[in-house]
Amino acid sequence: MRAHKLMPPKLAIVILAAGKGTRLKSAQAKVLHRAAGLPLVAHVLRGVAPMAQKNAAASWVVVGHQAEQVQQVVESFAARAVLQRPQLGTGHAVAQALAALPRSVRGLLVLPGDAPLVRTETLRALLAIHRRGKYAATVLSARLDDPTGYGRILRSESGSVIGIVEQKSLQGDQQELREVNSGMYCFERRALAALLGRLGRDNPHREYYLTDVIALLRGQGSAVGAYVAPDPDEILGVNTRAELARVDLLLRRRKAEALMAAGVTLYQPETLAIDLDVTISGDTVIERGVELRGLTRIGRRCRIGAFSILENATLGDDVVIRPHTLVFNSRIGAGASIGPFAHLRDAADIRRRARIGNYVEVKKSVVGEGTKAQHLTYLGDATVGRDTNIGAGTITCNYDGLNKNPTLIGDCVFVGSGTELVAPVRVGSGGYIAAGSTVTENVPRDALAIARSRQVNRPGWARTRRQKLAAAKARKEEPPVAVGIPNARQRPRRSSRRGSRRKPAK
Ligand code: UD1
Ligand code: CA
Repeated sequence: MRAHKLMPPKLAIVILAAGKGTRLKSAQAKVLHRAAGLPLVAHVLRGVAPMAQKNAAASWVVVGHQAEQVQQVVESFAARAVLQRPQLGTGHAVAQALAALPRSVRGLLVLPGDAPLVRTETLRALLAIHRRGKYAATVLSARLDDPTGYGRILRSESGSVIGIVEQKSLQGDQQELREVNSGMYCFERRALAALLGRLGRDNPHREYYLTDVIALLRGQGSAVGAYVAPDPDEILGVNTRAELARVDLLLRRRKAEALMAAGVTLYQPETLAIDLDVTISGDTVIERGVELRGLTRIGRRCRIGAFSILENATLGDDVVIRPHTLVFNSRIGAGASIGPFAHLRDAADIRRRARIGNYVEVKKSVVGEGTKAQHLTYLGDATVGRDTNIGAGTITCNYDGLNKNPTLIGDCVFVGSGTELVAPVRVGSGGYIAAGSTVTENVPRDALAIARSRQVNRPGWARTRRQKLAAAKARKEEPPVAVGIPNARQRPRRSSRRGSRRKPAK
């Protein structure tokens, strides 16, 4: 990046994200697992992004397992990837990063890619303490009620940090220690570089532990600082699926609190799953059990009904989503109402004040301003004008087995219930389609279209049939063949009674 050439950063933020995450038992690299809708490593990158402003720092991410996929995330944050192959531990990972850093870099902020809850303020405070104390290294620690899985901080009698012991190497009284290593540190580059080469692999994992650097620094008389995180939740990492669930919950809880503080009503917020990038404007109400995913944007004074799922949806103001509605990659204009039990599948563009009712599916279609499709309908590849009424059970037959074909419906059209629109087909503005029509030809402006066979009534037919069946049953015979339901194409049998002479339509 050109900016760095002009004014090289003195601080490198190094994020360790090369590990597989064996304890997740996953084919996917750990840092790609998502919490609150984002990969774990993306949370960390976001946390440090404000620190990189004005070129004060730049970020490097150590990648290895599924390097290409992780790199894609990294690059979307304008950070750089450094390859670590094979992955021989956190100490080895930092050594790879060091080799890639420009000479201008004097200090490092090292972070694990699997701890997504850390706040920028906390990292800034860590850096400030490190600089003020002129330490060779400063560790961010936390006191946890359950420290299982974390390295423990060893302190001298005077209280200064003298080392870090990993869970598997704890001995005797060390089991009781509650102060854990967050895996987040500041290092002076020179001090760190001099010691990384001295790390050994004499430990249960046979890895180069970055944590061993602390005791080495103390051994040579360097000063090591520590900052105990005021909110211990911030340092929580993800090694297991249970920890992933916990971290996801905490991130979403934070999001819910921020939304409420900004004037959004959330009923039973603990039942909601709102991704981090979702935005919601004031006085909108979210009912229980709602999921809001991806880049969903919701305007003012909307109401999102219980158990609805919205993913990458954009809603104007005053939109009502009734319960159990699904909206994916779609837009909804101001004052429109959708649901209950509606499905805007993909690229639905519902304009202002339109109404989409129950059991209506809309895909890749525009539904014009004020238009209504209230019941049991499928609109696919359709463009519908304004103030049109789509009757119950209307189906756009958009797929002919090979291609998807468009249906165009104008303004102020009345589509009668149970209409099938066999695409490609157009219905001109002001047109009127009789209920039950199968429309295969274009309907001109302001025309009436009736496209169904004529009805035949046979007076008394049903009564006669019942009587014949009853008689056959009394004689214990098979029912006579003649009492079956006649084919509408057959000519009715001649009868003197009125109404039976009408020829059925073809
Ligand atoms: C590490 C610390 C532990 C601390 C904990 C905090 C060590 C030896 N232990 O343990 O003291 O309490 O973090 O969460 O550092 N990684 C690489 N390359 C590797 C190995 C790991 O990039 O060769 C990355 C991983 O992808 C992960 C991070 O480093 O994002 C931490 O590795 P992990 O295996 O999770 O370390 P922990 O056992 O949690
Ligand atoms: Ca970890």
